[in-house]
Amino acid sequence: KKKEQEYLIGFSQCVGSDLWRKNMLEEMKMELSLHSGTRFIYKDADGNSKRQVEQVKQMLEQRVDLLIISPNEAQPLTPVVEEAYRKGIPVIVIDRKTSSDLYTAYVGADNYQIGKMAGEYLGTSLKARGNVIEIMGLPGSSPTIERQRGFADGIRKFEGLHISKQVYGDWLKENAEVELLKIKPELKTADIVFAHNDVMASGARRIIDQLQLNRSVKIIGIDALPGKGAGLEMVGNGLLNASVLYPTGGKEAISTAFKILNKEPFSKDNILGSLVIDASNVELMKLQWNKISSQQKDIERQQTLLDEQKLLFKDQQLILNVTIIT
Ligand code: FRU
Repeated sequence: KKKEQEYLIGFSQCVGSDLWRKNMLEEMKMELSLHSGTRFIYKDADGNSKRQVEQVKQMLEQRVDLLIISPNEAQPLTPVVEEAYRKGIPVIVIDRKTSSDLYTAYVGADNYQIGKMAGEYLGTSLKARGNVIEIMGLPGSSPTIERQRGFADGIRKFEGLHISKQVYGDWLKENAEVELLKIKPELKTADIVFAHNDVMASGARRIIDQLQLNRSVKIIGIDALPGKGAGLEMVGNGLLNASVLYPTGGKEAISTAFKILNKEPFSKDNILGSLVIDASNVELMKLQWNKISSQQKDIERQQTLLDEQKLLFKDQQLILNVTIIT
């Protein structure tokens, strides 16, 4: 059995540049800092499935002890993930899935439930009625498929709600905006916009404002991230009516990785909780996040102090050694 210091963990991220995934990586680093010495390789495929396959292959050549992966699209990444698994390398799939059962553990929220919660929230809490435009994620990435299915089931029992148009925004604000501009007539008669994430929801808000359309259009998104211009802020200032929290699972992925590597018991499916954030609970959520981030800063300060202490200790030893020798 290897020591923790000898582990090499590889993390293959589908896109690294957005806030949600930056948060995921930060969570991972925090948790990794509790296991000093473990080496961590991080690769960002920048939204390109082919590149992600190549990057995973490289990691296999580098002989990672465990692979964490968020697959850009399910199908194209399935063979390489199966290959890793068959070679005996434990694989943790995070947030997005492959189309196969051959993986060691999954970490993430239930995207079907999230879609369903969004649909039921529209019908029950918002008592919304009318035409819905659904802005979906990237075709072929698993949360798109699951959120879409869940949403359809969620609104099914509300007769007044029906989807008038669906477009793919590929998880990106710009793409969502371009697609919405192509369907101006439907946008004019829309009562609700449901976007598969908050950045696409913010694009919808921008286009609706820019075209001076129906200002009472209700917009809901997914993610509910803290930070400037992100979901929580938009719910707080009314740009979005609601957002469904989608936790990144960064911390849980790393803690699961160590359970697997240390041959401790672990669960195959690690489903993270979620909830709808709207005007009624957004302030509470913000408070919670502020508390967490101030605690994190404390931990980082302690870490720096510890490192300084260690350096000092080394210097003293050096002086001591020198004294002994002379
Ligand atoms: C970030 C993101 C999130 C979304 C998730 C789905 O890259 O687009 O906004 O919830 O990926 O995998």
